[in-house]
Parts: sequence; C-alpha cells; structure tokens
Amino acid sequence: MTDLLVTGVAGFIGSNFVYHYLRRYPDDTIIGIDALTYAGNLENLASLPEKEKTRFRFVKADITDRQAIENIFRKHPVEGIIHFAAESHVDRSIHDPGSFLRTNVLGTGNLLDQARKYLKGGQFLQVSTDEVYGTLGATGSFSESTPLDPHSPYSASKASADLLVKAYFDTYGLPVFITRCSNNYGPYQFPEKLIPLIIRNALNHQPLPVYGDGRQVRDWLYVDDHCNAIDLVYRKGTPGGIYNIGGNNEWENIEIVKLIISLLQEETGDLGINESLIRHVQDRPGHDRRYAIDSTKIRSELGWKPEISFPDGIRSTIKWYLTHRDWVEHVISGEYQLFYQENYGARLG
Ligand code: NAD
Ligand code: DAU
Repeated sequence: MTDLLVTGVAGFIGSNFVYHYLRRYPDDTIIGIDALTYAGNLENLASLPEKEKTRFRFVKADITDRQAIENIFRKHPVEGIIHFAAESHVDRSIHDPGSFLRTNVLGTGNLLDQARKYLKGGQFLQVSTDEVYGTLGATGSFSESTPLDPHSPYSASKASADLLVKAYFDTYGLPVFITRCSNNYGPYQFPEKLIPLIIRNALNHQPLPVYGDGRQVRDWLYVDDHCNAIDLVYRKGTPGGIYNIGGNNEWENIEIVKLIISLLQEETGDLGINESLIRHVQDRPGHDRRYAIDSTKIRSELGWKPEISFPDGIRSTIKWYLTHRDWVEHVISGEYQLFYQENYGARLG
C-alpha cells in the first residue's frame, strides 16, 4: 500500500484538502507532514471521522530538514506529493523575508531532491499562487503564460519555488504540476488573513483595518473548490503543466469588509457591528492592486468549475467562524498576538 504525501496538512488549505481527499477516496491513505508553525494546528484535523483517521498518519517534520524528509521516504512507500507547506502571509514576509526563503525556496528544493530520489515515477504537485504574476490594472487577467513579476518577498519566494519545480521537470523528467490559485476563503483559515480577521475583530467590536483606500481587488474562491481543482490536476493534468485556478469573483477589499459587517449583523442581531469600526490604515508596501485569474485552461482541459457560489460560501464561512470562536482564540493565543501588537497595534484606533 502506498501513501499520498501531503505537506502543510495542519494549515488552512492543507487541512481542508485532507478532509476532501479521505472523504472522496475511501481506499486511499495519506501521510501528512507539517512543522506546526504558528499557522499549523493539529486541531484543524480533529473533526476527521474515526474511519478516516485510520487512513491518515501525521509526522511532525520541517520540509527544510533533509534527514527528516529522507527518513519519511525510507519508511513509507510514497506514491506522490501534494505540496502545500509554506510561509503564506504577505505582511509577515515584509517583516521577516528569511523564513519565507528558507521554507518556500529551500524547503521546496529539499522535497524535490527527495522526490527525484524516491518517487520512481510518482508525481509532484506544487501548490502555488496567482501572486507570482504580480499586479493588474483595471482590466485583464492572468493566464498561464503571463510573465512572473512578483512584488513581495512571499510572492518572490513562491515564484522561485515554481522555477525550481519546472527545472526538475526539464532536467530530470520528474512529473510535476504547478497550480496557481487566487485568494481562498473558508473554514480553518488563520485569522491574520483578511476575511477571518475582519470577522473576529467585528465580533469583538474592535477596529477593522483596511489597507490604504481599500480599493484593491482580489478574486475569491471557496477552499473546497481549490481542493477539487488540485485533485483534478493531480489525477488528470498533463505533467509539466501550469494550471490557473480562480472563481471569476472579483471584490474590492472595502466591499468585502462591508459585506461581512452586514452578514454578521444579520446573523447575530448585534448593532455594535457596523461600519463605524472601519479604519483606513497605512497601506501594505508594494501592495498589488488587482488580481484576476483566467482559468480557461483548467475549465476546458479538465472540466473544472467552482461548485460553491460566493453568497453561499461566504455565509457558511461566517457561520463556521461564529460556531468556532474557541478555535479562533486558541490558534491566535500565542506568537500571533505578539506579532500583531508589534506590527499593527500602533496603527489602529
Ligand atoms: P497556511 O499558512 O494556513 O498553512 C501553511 C502550513 O505549512 C502550516 O500548517 C505550517 O505549519 C506549515 N509549514 C510552514 N513552514 C513549514 C516547514 N518549514 N515545514 C513544514 N511545514 C511548514 O497557508 P495556506 O493558506 O493553507 O496555504 C497553503 C499553500 O497554498 C501555500 O503554499 C500557499 O502559497 C498556497 N496558496 C494559498 C492561497 C490562499 O488564499 N490562502 C491561495 C493560493 C495559494
Ligand atoms: O492570491 C493568493 C494569495 O492570497 C495567497 O497566495 C496568500 O497565501 C494569501 O495570504 C492571500 O494573499 P493576500 O495578501 O491577497 O491576502 P490577505 O488576506 O492578507 O489580504 C487580502 C487583501 O486585503 C489584500 O489586498 C490586503 C488587504 N488587507 C489584508 C489584511 C490582513 C487589509 O486591507 N487589511 C488587513 O488587515
């Protein structure tokens, strides 16, 4: 029996992928690895049904640790890799680029080396991001042939990793895929990212920080739709291929914030959750103005399309956060509080 190796399983998208995969493939098994950084919480996987838990093994490991990763390949027959593990928050990359280079570039390089040695025909899927393409003006969208033009240390580290992945395909024939998705939202997203941060602050009647004029545009996709797309590319994609994933669902940040306020007010009846909480704060340096994804390739080649409409997805996400307030407080109880106070506290209120 072989395992699918999934990295970053204790994070937002990685944990959602584990639920998705074990539910969909009742005979398959996963070996999940994660370094359990501030963003990784095993609690995210606690709701796996008992039957599915038996098909999931967790190993705490840092992807930059050569020996630890090699040990995993030696002990467990691995059939392929889905690689989510990363430092993922743009604001943190501005304060501490080094950890992004370490994990996102060197860690990916280490995994590729071990994959080349041990996979024996198995496939490697690199979960990348639309941010590698940089920023758009008022019109147009990113296609797979848009040149790489990253602006933050985060996106530059992801672009570097993507180039390494491509090099292992071109040089060694390792069967790889690269997926580049737009902004995800849904359960288990760490509350430093826009949507869960706004939900938490609003529920606590705390200021809602909007960077600059708030007119930056993001293309939002429900996390399950991203997981479906990754699954499809891994099973049916063309090795060496890049696949853009997006929901055709562009929103200005300020409009997302206002939408969350109105939905929260409706759900809770709390009139203290209102637009007077919004604070326009100093803009993010190098802030990309607009992202929009052209996902024609994955739609026409593999038949993918989003299944969850934005009105349904955002409402169910808000309900999830309302019923998981303990989870939110638990996951931010440590190092994140300090980071937030030091870097953003002074700008608020
Ligand atoms: P996340 O920050 O929620 O989770 C990342 C996980 O990786 C955490 O569990 C963390 O502990 C783990 N990790 C970090 N460094 C590690 C290391 N050195 N070794 C092992 N594990 C390590 O991130 P996410 O939002 O779930 O993103 C997952 C992937 O998807 C990332 O590669 C990201 O670039 C990509 N992506 C995210 C989005 C989005 O909107 N969130 C969109 C497109 C692509
Ligand atoms: O596009 C895909 C990317 O989406 C992923 O690769 C990243 O891992 C993921 O973090 C996300 O990056 P963004 O920078 O777009 O997401 P974030 O939630 O940090 O911010 C969304 C937008 O909201 C962005 O324009 C910055 C703005 N923002 C964010 C925060 C946290 C605010 O105005 N206020 C905030 O407090």
